[in-house]
Amino acid sequence: MKGLVLAGGTATRLFPLTIVTNKHLLPIYDRPMIYYPIATLAGMGIREVMVVVGGKSVGDVVELLADGEHFGLNLTYRYQRGAMGIAHAIGLARDFVGDDSFCCVLGDNVLLGPPLDQAAREFDEGPCGAGTLLYEVADPQRFGVAELDPAGNVIAFEEKPAQPKSNLIPIGVYFLRPDAFGVVETLVPSRRGELEITDLLNHYLPGNLFTRRFEGLWTDAGTVTSLIRAAELAEQESLAGHLDPPPARP
Ligand code: DAU
Repeated sequence: MKGLVLAGGTATRLFPLTIVTNKHLLPIYDRPMIYYPIATLAGMGIREVMVVVGGKSVGDVVELLADGEHFGLNLTYRYQRGAMGIAHAIGLARDFVGDDSFCCVLGDNVLLGPPLDQAAREFDEGPCGAGTLLYEVADPQRFGVAELDPAGNVIAFEEKPAQPKSNLIPIGVYFLRPDAFGVVETLVPSRRGELEITDLLNHYLPGNLFTRRFEGLWTDAGTVTSLIRAAELAEQESLAGHLDPPPARP
């Protein structure tokens, strides 16, 4: 499988922290935010990773991650003009992905817990067209939200609903195949002017979406409150000996 990290967007929810710098460079405990999604992909055994960059200080993101050798990865980059949505950013990876299946991780998602190599393998070798990881949160209206049938199967996702149908959200880990690029072409911008990831996932529902509960600790880091929470969780995991030190620069 190949990997994709999305580090574009405008990060207005973190202004003034992100007026002149890229959100993904902000510190979370002892390392820059983008180290977390990179480590998530490395933990799946993925080696070929593209980082989609956009917004502020893109050169600094490239300088920080360089060729990826210190993460054991081979990194390439693609520039996203504007912030036309997560599904749009995924669409930019078409040539990089070729005929392979791939995993996309959002650049502001912090996953602390068991590696996801088994889930990645199960998706890769399985029949489903796409996949994601589910997590229970107290504030689902901030995210995509799952609607479940009585048996507990996901039947649809709704992006940031005022009245969430569950507390279960798709976190920013998406398992995809090249066929997703054709689906992205059919999407239309949402009310907020973005090609939404939940619309892409809904294409595979019901019945053709691989889902697993994420068993570790998860948070996004795209708001001031969640940025602080991410740092607290990372510190807690580090003190418990569950978080490796950040890789040294080459
Ligand atoms: O964190 C999980 C949630 O992420 C999901 O539950 C939602 O379904 C999904 O839409 C997303 O919600 P957010 O509103 O929090 O996404 P945000 O706009 O903050 O973007 C998340 C990351 O994706 C961010 O680190 C930058 C990247 N991104 C975003 C956009 C809109 C891009 O690279 N390009 C873009 O155009």
